[in-house]
Amino acid sequence: MTAFLSQEIYELKKRVEAETARRGHVPTACVVTFGCQMNERDSEKLSGVLLAAGFAESKDETADVVVINTCTVRENANERLYGHLGHLNSMKRANPDKIIALCGCMMQEPDEVERIRRTYSFVDIVFGTHNLYRFPALLARRLAGEKRVFEVWDKEREIVENLPKKREVPYKSGVNIMFGCNNFCSYCIVPYVRGRERSREPGEILKEVRELAADGVIEIMLLGQNVNSYGKTLAEPLSFAQLLDKVCQVEGIERVRFMTSHPKDLSDELIEVMAKNPKVCRHLHLPMQSGSSRILKAMNRRYTKEQYLALAAKIKAAMPDIHLTTDIIVGFPGETEEDFEETLDVVRRVRFDSAFTFIYSPRTGTPAAKMPDQIPPEVVKERFPRLLELVQKIGSEESLRELGQTLPALVEAVDDAHPGRVTGRLGNNVMVHFDGGEELIGTIVNVKLKECRGFYYLGTQVP
Ligand code: 5AD
Ligand code: SF4
Repeated sequence: MTAFLSQEIYELKKRVEAETARRGHVPTACVVTFGCQMNERDSEKLSGVLLAAGFAESKDETADVVVINTCTVRENANERLYGHLGHLNSMKRANPDKIIALCGCMMQEPDEVERIRRTYSFVDIVFGTHNLYRFPALLARRLAGEKRVFEVWDKEREIVENLPKKREVPYKSGVNIMFGCNNFCSYCIVPYVRGRERSREPGEILKEVRELAADGVIEIMLLGQNVNSYGKTLAEPLSFAQLLDKVCQVEGIERVRFMTSHPKDLSDELIEVMAKNPKVCRHLHLPMQSGSSRILKAMNRRYTKEQYLALAAKIKAAMPDIHLTTDIIVGFPGETEEDFEETLDVVRRVRFDSAFTFIYSPRTGTPAAKMPDQIPPEVVKERFPRLLELVQKIGSEESLRELGQTLPALVEAVDDAHPGRVTGRLGNNVMVHFDGGEELIGTIVNVKLKECRGFYYLGTQVP
């Protein structure tokens, strides 16, 4: 562990010991995550710090310390936090010793932090995405008696390696390969809250993957806001495809996924590496956002409808069994009925296995929020269900593709609704339920897909 960090965790540990004596029990801590896989991985670092410092883990927000890792990608993420805070406030009234910490993307927005400072006086600690590793020091200050500890940096600084991490599950793990984003899609707040693109050194990434493999992890998800532009900031540049190839070579790792890909940066080299490497899961999430070239231009996506279609066709030709999923925004400023129909047209032509559909949400500070011709809610309300219906219809038809095949599934959970049954994930990200016991969790087994239930399969384990 980096020397100064281990020192900070050591200091926090001493505070936790004092708290244990004062409270008469080992203080409990709970981390709640909103948002994407990036945030989930950050939360594993927060949990790692808390455990290393001697807190007892809790899954329950009645814990003595509650950390909320926030998201701000759409306005409803912010609203969700404020709703949640009301709930935490009443818990704190019952337990005034409770410590509430907020961090993550939403805390990088000065207006929100100001609102919390002024009207949510029961919030004890606020920090952002750039200074996540300062968490042990900030919590120690609060425990030492400082009333409110607010520290948010407006810019990213160096990447800090080696934070302790507590994985949610033992057999799979996310691994950050880069932080931040330079794309500035005109609707998106991420570049403002996550800063500029920085890649981790490949040596550090591979060291982490090897350690995870030694610790029993068999599936890795490489994480970045735009993984296809990995490596550009390194002293010795390395492409994402080259990195992926190296990760696949790590002994013990059986599956590799990655998230998220920007279509404009997806190289032929990557398609080649994916196609030749059976460890790379046959699932690609390729956010399209809109099918209209005119809207794509206004979104600053830097590809056209035709380029997106050509890319999807190229990927499917190289890997016919791949599952393509996407993100689509409805109601971007200026979107006409014709633009919307272009989106439906791409959905029909690509035949996505599934798609996340979002209503455009204006984010303060982004160019799109200031664009004229914001779409009235009643127009969006009319378009959104049409898209959803099409996406679901095609998704359920595509799900039938593997019916009758035998495919490897990583068993993730027992099926609560059906005792004696477990749930596994296929490489293409589709779930399958089949008879089996808890002992299968974390293993990859072959499953014959016997029945398709819309978006998941029922199957039987075969040797
Ligand atoms: N409004 C609606 N959807 C958005 N997304 C990002 N920003 C916005 C916004 N302002 C969606 C995009 C992205 C996904 C993570 O969230 O589709 O791919
Ligand atoms: Fe939300 Fe984006 Fe932050 Fe992920 S990176 S938590 S999606 S705002």
